[in-house]
Amino acid sequence: MADKYMELVNTGVTKKLAKLLGLPRPPRLRRYSPDAPLLPGPLLVLGASSSAQELSDTLVSWGLDVRRHDAGDAKLGGILLLLDEVDHPQALSSIMLTAGRALRKLLPGARVVSFSRPASADDEPAVAAARQGIDGVIRSLGREMRGGSTTNGIVLEEATTPVSTSALAALRFFFSGRSAYVDGQFLTVRNGEGALPADFSQPLAGKVAVVTGAARGIGAAIARTLARDGAQVVVVDMPQAGDSLAKVANSIGATTLQLDVTAADAAQQIMDHAIGRHGSLDIVVHNAGITRDKLLANMDAARWDSVIAVNIASQLRMNEAFLAAKLPNLRIVSLASTSGIAGNRGQTNYAASKGGVIGMVRSSAKLFAENGGSIAAVAPGFIETEMTAKIPLGTRTVARMVLPSLMQGGLPEDVAEAISFLGSDAAAGLNGQVLRVCGQSLVGA
Ligand code: NAI
Repeated sequence: MADKYMELVNTGVTKKLAKLLGLPRPPRLRRYSPDAPLLPGPLLVLGASSSAQELSDTLVSWGLDVRRHDAGDAKLGGILLLLDEVDHPQALSSIMLTAGRALRKLLPGARVVSFSRPASADDEPAVAAARQGIDGVIRSLGREMRGGSTTNGIVLEEATTPVSTSALAALRFFFSGRSAYVDGQFLTVRNGEGALPADFSQPLAGKVAVVTGAARGIGAAIARTLARDGAQVVVVDMPQAGDSLAKVANSIGATTLQLDVTAADAAQQIMDHAIGRHGSLDIVVHNAGITRDKLLANMDAARWDSVIAVNIASQLRMNEAFLAAKLPNLRIVSLASTSGIAGNRGQTNYAASKGGVIGMVRSSAKLFAENGGSIAAVAPGFIETEMTAKIPLGTRTVARMVLPSLMQGGLPEDVAEAISFLGSDAAAGLNGQVLRVCGQSLVGA
């Protein structure tokens, strides 16, 4: 871990000193490596579901050591809560109290994941109460986890079960190191479409993926992650960023396209390049983005308009062209931000654009689905980049205090992992979702 503070509070004498002084000690997160096991130890499955046996067989086929009872002192790598058939708040008691007793046995980097159903106005009151209560349980438990462990939930709409393709894909994502910085979040599975990859270490094999704003920062991390996951990548950025763009491309065998995403023909240029050079266009990651922060009282038109133009208007225009081209199974993943959910002082323009991304994603889901495609967004919180590394240590430590369980910012790679997952065919049933990668930041929780 590059961060000196984290190194100090987690090693040797300084670790003991930090413990004595009660200083926050951010845990090392369990991040993805293709060779690492899916969970750091056995999985305890609690609760009942009609799909329990089929699910258990699948989990065993993934190499997991599945236990149906919590016996002895054996350490655990995760807990799976089957809550999809819970129909009264009182039915949660025994499952949650059993889970509670097992929490002390969790290994660092463990995962707690639930399956549940969405609460709807059409449900019986007791059923809706139980379902909505699960939302509160998972978000609260996330705040109680230690050692870099996380808690997330999968909500199954009526047509789906825990063994639907996208439900299983979401489960693998949450179990794996890919979700290291996703905590206290839910993914809703809308349908069972899509297919699990033949090789879980190459989920994007054969796909052509375009990443905008890929010359540096989060965009460069996304390009590297998509390439690692098997995609042929096209990296896009402004002509001024040409040198850095070429370096990113050379390191991963990508091709480059120098392009301002606000250009009227940006989508056409992307389609021409991807299809002309690589034969298809399967994934587009709208990552290019800018900030021009000012209090609204001091805001000028240039600041306001440029942020809207780059961060949202360009995406709306490009998506319209992609839809008109009827590209089959096209997956779009867009960058939102927790600022677009919770708001942020000095960022009215940015929040309008990022809230706009969320609105666009929700409303475009049905349009992309018509050709077998999907659209989703990732909303990053506090991501530690070269920029945040320059923030004084004291200020950075305060920033981490709104991250009560993981006590650290995320890395660009954490955002990239979520994007690669949402861009995969197995995630097709998660169409229209917005996933926060924010370490369960209290901001806009
Ligand atoms: P960055 O400023 O390091 O990189 C953005 C890239 O986009 C640059 O290479 C830039 O040249 C390119 N770009 C800007 N305008 C463009 C245009 N008109 N056409 C083509 N390329 C253009 O930004 P960072 O931090 O890597 O952020 C990437 C995305 O993630 C942005 O959408 C940002 O809003 C979002 N985000 C970032 C967070 C963070 O903590 N860094 C938090 C939440 C969201």
